[in-house]
Amino acid sequence: MVNSLEWLDRIAPGSPESTRLATLTHDMERAFPGPDQPVWNGDEDYRYYVAHSNRSARIVGEWLRSRNAGESLISEVESLIRVHEFGGWPEADKVQAADSLSFLDVNIDLFLGYATSGRYRVDQVRAKFVYSHTRIRIPVIQEISGPMLSSALERLDALGSC
Ligand SMILES: [Fe+2]
Repeated sequence: MVNSLEWLDRIAPGSPESTRLATLTHDMERAFPGPDQPVWNGDEDYRYYVAHSNRSARIVGEWLRSRNAGESLISEVESLIRVHEFGGWPEADKVQAADSLSFLDVNIDLFLGYATSGRYRVDQVRAKFVYSHTRIRIPVIQEISGPMLSSALERLDALGSC
């Protein structure tokens, strides 16, 4: 998640504290296993992303409250995390774009490994790669993510020819 913040600071330097905090902590729920933790089944499942985002927002909001952060900051961070997979307004679109760029930057090897091991199907990994680019709502950012997607897809295609 530090990588997401590095991407945010590259594409939107000087972003507000709430945007930077949300970018840093957007996937926090994955660090807190529990019976209410949603499980990703490998498909681009809207319900999973909503449950994952809401759970992260709750955990980060509770943590900020325990640290006596201001209520307006907490509210902004929670709102941004709730939509971090989707975007929706300028600051939310930045958080989502930074997350997407970070995925394409650091998670390709991990997901190629999933395809190789059979944990997820090749078509599921392909859909995840493509979605990480197409969901970005800021056109100029897609100029950065496009070549990253092309490289990831070339590597995925090469798996099948080995
Ligand atoms: Fe996420």
